[in-house]
Amino acid sequence: MHVLFAASECVPFSKTGGLADVVGSLPRALASLGHQATVYLPLYRQTQLQAARTVIASVTVPYDDQYRFCSVVDGGKLNGVQYYFIDYPPFYDRDALYGTALGDYHDNAERFALFCRAVLEASKILGVPDIFHCHDWQTALIPVLLRSLYADDPAFAHSGTVFTIHNIGYQGVFSPDTLPLLMLPWDLFTISKLEFYGKVNFLKGALVFADAVTTVSRRYALEIQTAEYGFGLEGVLHSRAGSVHGILNGVDYDEWSPASDRFLTAHYTPQSLKGKQLCRRDLLQAFGFDKETTAPIVGIVSRFAAQKGFDLIALAADRMAHLDLRVCVLGSGDKTYEELFRRLARQYPARFAARFGYDNEMAHKIEAGADFFLMPSRYEPCGLNQIYSLKYGTVPIVRATGGLDDTIEPYDERTGKGTGFKFHPYTPEALLDSVQAALATFAKPKSWRKLMLNGMARDFRWTVAAREYVKVYEKLRSTRRAPVA
Ligand code: ADP
Ligand code: GLC
Repeated sequence: MHVLFAASECVPFSKTGGLADVVGSLPRALASLGHQATVYLPLYRQTQLQAARTVIASVTVPYDDQYRFCSVVDGGKLNGVQYYFIDYPPFYDRDALYGTALGDYHDNAERFALFCRAVLEASKILGVPDIFHCHDWQTALIPVLLRSLYADDPAFAHSGTVFTIHNIGYQGVFSPDTLPLLMLPWDLFTISKLEFYGKVNFLKGALVFADAVTTVSRRYALEIQTAEYGFGLEGVLHSRAGSVHGILNGVDYDEWSPASDRFLTAHYTPQSLKGKQLCRRDLLQAFGFDKETTAPIVGIVSRFAAQKGFDLIALAADRMAHLDLRVCVLGSGDKTYEELFRRLARQYPARFAARFGYDNEMAHKIEAGADFFLMPSRYEPCGLNQIYSLKYGTVPIVRATGGLDDTIEPYDERTGKGTGFKFHPYTPEALLDSVQAALATFAKPKSWRKLMLNGMARDFRWTVAAREYVKVYEKLRSTRRAPVA
């Protein structure tokens, strides 16, 4: 089976969050199962290619006021996966992927619509797949285009579409003028299609038109069908409940394993944990703490976004500062949270230290050097950092939501079972209770070791998830959907 992935980011070419990790690993896992996998990405300023070759000199994308001409670059094959890049410098040769500190780029609808059309056009020349697997709102127009402008195109008569929601909080909502600008028919602008409170909603379009919808954990698949988590799209999802699948993300252990991680000062395994002590010291030093301290280290690596629960940390911080711990934070994004951690580091320099910006090396050092990893998310579709943490013997403290709930089992002192600490109510008190329970276990070396080893023994490799995706793809090949009324 040939699966074409269309996405806005992918390791090792471009990344802002976990989407890039997933698009970097799943195609590879499919290739290792014997399938053909092709990935299409925008060619951003940050994309580094070893040997690039233009394979299509010009693809025409019409807008109502002009034609735009982009090209397609062959990025070569890596681990059995073919990479192509849509090159259109006016749209992609910019400082960031989606926007700046001032907000999203004003032309994001046009930027990603161009990408979607270019992928379809390029595939006609480079290979039409059995399945178009699209990810998040940036690629949501692909299933829409295939059921509207391209509905009668014989080239795609046998292609199915799978759309994966990595985060329903980002939907691609634009003014209605976007439709004529992108040459999309007005009949898409109805409540049963792309219209959303008087605007055009790309993500909604994909949820309506894709043959199958998946999301990145079972729990999140259920949550997004409720008003609390659906961001207004719960009704659409509910109406497609039979075709919404929750498939938990996997982990690329070639990248994220303390036994081989290229960014660490020392390596370690469940059999020999000594290296973790060295990673601990390295981390303490990097954050300006006394490197000999035995006080527990809490790590945080995150996009600074409301989703991640920083308002809870803000409310709990003064009380956390009275506990004997060291908090090492790495993050970038919303300035409010950057300001929060700057203030905490000033106010409690013996407790909080923070670094700002995107720093992959430091993300690895935190995974290895910390004792706990804190993710108090308000919502979390899957979450990868807590899964990485397990392998590094860094015990997760999480809020029981989405993928955090699916991947972390609460530690039970009596049975010695479990992998972390979990709290339910979204309150600073519940967070503090969990932190205190974690500290109490940390103080008992035998229990602590057992807890670390439980997590390190967990296995979330990608082949399991890849097989589940294959089942979804195969089901589509045998059942084509009826047209949307
Ligand atoms: P999300 O996709 O919502 O940001 P995930 O937990 O799925 O959350 O994935 C986050 C990914 O991004 C992880 O690989 C994490 O290490 C990485 N990451 C997040 N913030 C940073 C940062 N400031 N520097 C380096 N890596 C980061
Ligand atoms: C999103 C989610 C995160 C998930 C990632 C990869 O960015 O916020 O929870 O792990 O996508 O699927």
